[in-house]
Amino acid sequence: SKPSILVARAIFPEVLAQLREVFDVDYNEADDIFTPAELSRRLQGKVGALTTGSERIDAALLQANPQLKVVANMAVGFNNFDVPAMTAAGVQATNTPDVLTETTADFGFALLMATARRVTESEHYLRAGQWTKWRYDMFAGAEVHGATLGIIGMGRIGQGIARRGSHGFGMNVVYHNRSRLSPELEAECKARYVSKQELLQTADHVVLVVPYSAESHHTIGAPELALMKPTATLVNIARGGIVDDAALAKALAAHQIAAAGLDVFEGEPAVHPDLLKVPNVVLTPHIASATVKTRMAMAQLAADNLVAYLTQGKALTPVNTLAGTPA
Ligand code: GLV
Ligand code: GLV
Repeated sequence: SKPSILVARAIFPEVLAQLREVFDVDYNEADDIFTPAELSRRLQGKVGALTTGSERIDAALLQANPQLKVVANMAVGFNNFDVPAMTAAGVQATNTPDVLTETTADFGFALLMATARRVTESEHYLRAGQWTKWRYDMFAGAEVHGATLGIIGMGRIGQGIARRGSHGFGMNVVYHNRSRLSPELEAECKARYVSKQELLQTADHVVLVVPYSAESHHTIGAPELALMKPTATLVNIARGGIVDDAALAKALAAHQIAAAGLDVFEGEPAVHPDLLKVPNVVLTPHIASATVKTRMAMAQLAADNLVAYLTQGKALTPVNTLAGTPA
């Protein structure tokens, strides 16, 4: 008989069909998000699982499911995984890097431009029938080309945004990251390393692309917002919790910064009610990687990781290294 796996959320039918050829699949067709107890129960007897950011894999769940061997997240981020607990339990964790890099960088730029140029705010005004005449200062926003772009988090996606800014829009790109890029990569991205403080004080547009961790929690809070220029914009395509959303809503209402663009939220899909009250924020429902082609590639890579690990003992894009795994 085939090994049993759980597909914990709805996925593309084509990818599901491929998995069914190799595995006995328990599929969450209804796409209701499992409670931790339901997830643990549905994993009983399963050696693998395909998850998204909504499924938390932690020590208690692993202890209740000692037969589990691999969990493939359909996301580049994996803050829903307790990776040390998975490693300790001998469970392979995988994510979907690379396939979404350029698509996500495109969206970071889309949010940056929509925020700087007040695209959604002005559309709401138009749809509300408030547009009765043109006016010289109507929805006058911030310049994008030639402005200073500050990128916090210079992984693959951050580098993609840097290239778009420097090569496409003639921006002066500065970045902050835990480690500096190689001189070659800095030259290719035309990006200059600065301290977080200098970045916040000098950037016209700040884009956040850092992975979520205890250390990156509230990378931007009230003290950081106070350092930014009153004309500056802030874009978060990283994770909820990287920004203190309550502090940001206050800063936007007080015009301490000009505007923000947010694709991710603390406690999403809930959005801080004060963010919904301020006009100078562009809000999108965690769609930065959402093109048909990229979402398909992410689902395919997650599925391929399950097949590769459970049939050949080697994941394609592992997050953790297990003792005894071939390098
Ligand atoms: C989406 O947020 C991802 O991590 O891929
Ligand atoms: C993270 O993996 C990134 O590409 O920035």
